[in-house]
Amino acid sequence: MLWTKEMRYRNYRTITALEEKTLLENVESSIWRQHFHIQPPYGLLNDPNGFTFYNGKYYLFYQWFPFGAVHGMKHWYQVESEDLVNWVDHGVAISPEYDHESHGIFSGSGIVKDDLLYLFYTGNKRDENWNRYASQCLAVMNAGNELTKLEKPLITGQPNGYTDNFRDPKVWQTEDGYYMIVGAERENHTGCVLLYRSDDLLKWEFQGELQTDRQQFGYMWECPDMFRIGGEDVLLISPQGLEPDGDHYHNVHNSGCFVGKLDLQERRFHGSEFQELDAGFDFYAPQTTALPDGRRILIGWMGLPDTAYPSDGDMWANCLTIPRELQVKDGKLYQHPVKELAQKRKNMIEWQDTLTQQEVVLDQFSGKTFELICDITAEKGTAGIKLRVGEGEETVLYLDLEKEKLVFDRTKSGVPVATEYGTIRRTAYREKSVSFRIFMDTSSVEIFVNKGESIFTSRIFPKQDSIGTSIFANDGKASFILKKWDYE
Ligand code: FRU
Repeated sequence: MLWTKEMRYRNYRTITALEEKTLLENVESSIWRQHFHIQPPYGLLNDPNGFTFYNGKYYLFYQWFPFGAVHGMKHWYQVESEDLVNWVDHGVAISPEYDHESHGIFSGSGIVKDDLLYLFYTGNKRDENWNRYASQCLAVMNAGNELTKLEKPLITGQPNGYTDNFRDPKVWQTEDGYYMIVGAERENHTGCVLLYRSDDLLKWEFQGELQTDRQQFGYMWECPDMFRIGGEDVLLISPQGLEPDGDHYHNVHNSGCFVGKLDLQERRFHGSEFQELDAGFDFYAPQTTALPDGRRILIGWMGLPDTAYPSDGDMWANCLTIPRELQVKDGKLYQHPVKELAQKRKNMIEWQDTLTQQEVVLDQFSGKTFELICDITAEKGTAGIKLRVGEGEETVLYLDLEKEKLVFDRTKSGVPVATEYGTIRRTAYREKSVSFRIFMDTSSVEIFVNKGESIFTSRIFPKQDSIGTSIFANDGKASFILKKWDYE
């Protein structure tokens, strides 16, 4: 399908009943639909937006282009949950109306003030020569989900010295008022974040660039986030255009964070080395929020910009990750699946044994939607697990003691995705034991390593009957303990 500008920059309001019916029919016949992930009803989903606990519920929005699986006119689509597990669709929340947002409601964040949910987003406008104008805007939602949008942007255009890549406001509160960071690109084509301050969330004053130790690190920093856990500040960014470095940054764009100390007076983030947030193939633009019980929760886009996915032909694309609880220990960020997910567990089975240079098929561990914990202790060589095994297909995860790596291999996972960025991901690993906690859905897998020290998040597109599981130990002995629950 050839997408012209006219087709891509259409407002959802113009959809016809017939178009919607056709889109829904296409989606319904898609074999890739997920079971326990947030996914669009049709069209393309990207970044999570406005994630906030408000009115006793979790409010979450996502970037949405309704008319098919391409990036075009973005809207905010709304979902709500009382438990972070079951999400109810609320349809489009914010759509373009004004000139300054004529080409999309781009990403942003939410914050509660005076019992109202303030939603900050980027108004994206293009002129007839396709020049971009970016402004930071506000819409306010009440507990009845009624939305009032400000007619004028809060911040029109970027400050001098920066390009029109100026977007994705994240707002937080301090004892000294409200702060906002906005993702930006300097005129010399390097990425950074810009800092603003406000007393009332309405009038914003530019403070300057937030200095970090990384002056040259990608050309644009998208979707910044700032928060504090366990006495440490975390600056999270999605820098575009990083070059691969060892096992890191192998996707088209990547996400990560600095852990350290934010000094608002000095406008400086004193930080650690950049920590990549995910070692898998499909993860980008994550956003966090604080829960009333103090937990900090992150949700990411399980997809990447500029990437075609096999479900595109079914008129939908992408989903969000499961929610992850964040912790910082000794300056390192850890991510765990939220405890609420345990309510999905059904039909527990367990198995354990030791293998010596063999591969064993575990029939009772087959399936398409499940949680599986697989603990391995190996002597030498490689030992691991194969998932979604079928004719010519397997998704492989293993410990390589010789090379001191954990390896995730989607070379034979089914319909290929973005193979120009490789089909294997690795992380450095020096132990002989590992614990994998695996969340498998119809067309994705999220693997948490050892209580969240690293994660491989990836879409996979195997045949419907590729549901087998096997374990293997090459060149030596390895012991396995497995536990699985079906997720319905
Ligand atoms: C990141 C991003 C954001 C932008 C949004 C547009 O994926 O490019 O920077 O606001 O997507 O959909």
